[in-house]
Amino acid sequence: MEISLNTHHSPAFPCELQQAILALDQEMDHYCWSIKSWQTLFHEQGENYTLFTLTKEHTLVSMALFFTLANDKVAHLLKIVTSSKQQGQGHAKRVLTFAMKQLLYYDFPQIYLEVGANNSAAISLYQKLHFRTLHRKKSFYSHGEDAVIMFYP
Ligand SMILES: CC(C)(COP(=O)(O)OP(=O)(O)OC[C@H]1O[C@@H](n2cnc3c(N)ncnc32)[C@H](O)[C@@H]1OP(=O)(O)O)[C@@H](O)C(=O)NCCC(=O)NCCS
Repeated sequence: MEISLNTHHSPAFPCELQQAILALDQEMDHYCWSIKSWQTLFHEQGENYTLFTLTKEHTLVSMALFFTLANDKVAHLLKIVTSSKQQGQGHAKRVLTFAMKQLLYYDFPQIYLEVGANNSAAISLYQKLHFRTLHRKKSFYSHGEDAVIMFYP
């Protein structure tokens, strides 16, 4: 089975990739973004977003999206998702490990993220990759869930 890891910089996401991103994100229930938010990102000027993808047999299986502001040094992980049928096979760990290496190369040695306090799968993933918990933000999300703020290294 051919697995491929790739990096994409905004706003040059090819049309085919945009469709695949939207389809994968729609699997995320209450974590998914509106089409309008994605369209804004796809058409944003400047290279402020970096997307890392894992494809299997040319199908998008897992992705990690970062806000990467030049000269900032800290990349903000906005979203990571693995297709529901492909979860539990190490794909998120693979794509995030790849992203961390690439980000270091692009001079982003640090990573910041917020994650739902009830999202034990994601928190466990980040802990395995040595993210540290900084603090907890009460009722951070619109549905009332707290956020855990994590940082690497
Ligand atoms: C979180 C998510 C990205 C993990 O994707 P995945 O490809 O299944 O994860 P991996 O197989 O690479 O697992 C890596 C680690 O994550 C943790 N993990 C993954 N799924 C888990 C689960 N269901 N329960 C507990 N821990 C889990 C484990 O620590 C795992 O390491 P292990 O295999 O050594 O036990 C996936 O569950 C997902 O897409 N969730 C919905 C989107 C989301 O919540 N994203 C995070 C906020 S944006």
